Amino acid sequence: MDLDEFIIIYMFFLINVINVIIDQPGFIGFNIIRMKKIPIIIDCDPGHDDAIALAVACASEKLDIRAVTVVAGNQTLEKTLRNAKKILNFIGKRPLLAAGADKPMFRELQTAPDFHGESGLDGPVIPDPADYKEEAVPAWDLIRRIAAESPEPLTLVPTGPLTNIGILFTAYPEVKGRIAGISLMGGSLFAGGNRTSAAEFNILVDPEAAGIVFSSGVPITMCGLDVTNKAFILPEEVETLRSTGRVGRFLAELIDFYSDIHLKQGFKGAALHDPCAVLALTAPELFQTGHFHVDIETEGRLTLGMTLADLRPWTGAGANVTACLDIDRNAFIRVLHDASASYGW
Ligand code: BDR
Ligand code: CA
Repeated sequence: MDLDEFIIIYMFFLINVINVIIDQPGFIGFNIIRMKKIPIIIDCDPGHDDAIALAVACASEKLDIRAVTVVAGNQTLEKTLRNAKKILNFIGKRPLLAAGADKPMFRELQTAPDFHGESGLDGPVIPDPADYKEEAVPAWDLIRRIAAESPEPLTLVPTGPLTNIGILFTAYPEVKGRIAGISLMGGSLFAGGNRTSAAEFNILVDPEAAGIVFSSGVPITMCGLDVTNKAFILPEEVETLRSTGRVGRFLAELIDFYSDIHLKQGFKGAALHDPCAVLALTAPELFQTGHFHVDIETEGRLTLGMTLADLRPWTGAGANVTACLDIDRNAFIRVLHDASASYGW
């Protein structure tokens, strides 16, 4: 090694060490040394697969969960809030929690009892913690406060209708500058819908909010049905999950209930939609992606809630979405088993 090379390498380490000490990003390779956790807020409507997403996220060493916010979707807000408290309490994590919207921005609420039951979390019986209280402010105010106080921009992980984020961006547009990205479960580019022939549930419930989010300019990673229908779990894999410990048993019991409708609909197993939005952040190597310009249909009689990719390269419409299109399903299931095992017995 000559003197020039030595000086370059020495400077590289010196600047990175300074970055670590002053806690500032800003140099190629700083992540190698710092291994900073990604600060996130999960916005969810639990929901069986939301519960699995929360368990996977809370198990990850790579995430710093600053808060969980809740929205009406799979069930009413009262029920999704209660479910979020029960899930987080059961897995032994109690991040800041806030309730958000009890209905879509401009429409009546549609729920999904056919998938998630009357409680929104039918199946296992777990305690309802009376002492786990939500914050006194609504979800969008909590997100705004955390984003303003955070030294680093936040990543949002919505796994329900986008109402809370739509309200946040409308009420406080300046917050967008404090959001590094959004990794969401919603929509479908090439796989058709699930709630209607054109639309996926989360986007269909609040298409106006989805329109605000998709046109916000904030970078979006989209886990739609293209990938999440491929993220199914087979019955024998549910049994392995059940054997991993107390959280594995809870998740397996959730899937016992949630599989039923999937099997009736002809799926090989329950589609674990929402954990994909978490894993797109913590294990991006599991996914194949593409870049698209995506708009939301807010008016169509048959196409309301459709996420429409513009496939015409000549229009010059820049991509606003990185869409996950395929998944290494076996690796996905291994990550799920490992995450649940990490909670122990
Ligand atoms: C989405 O809809 C909900 O029922 C699930 O929780 C998931 O977020 C899938 O379309
Ligand atoms: Ca959900």
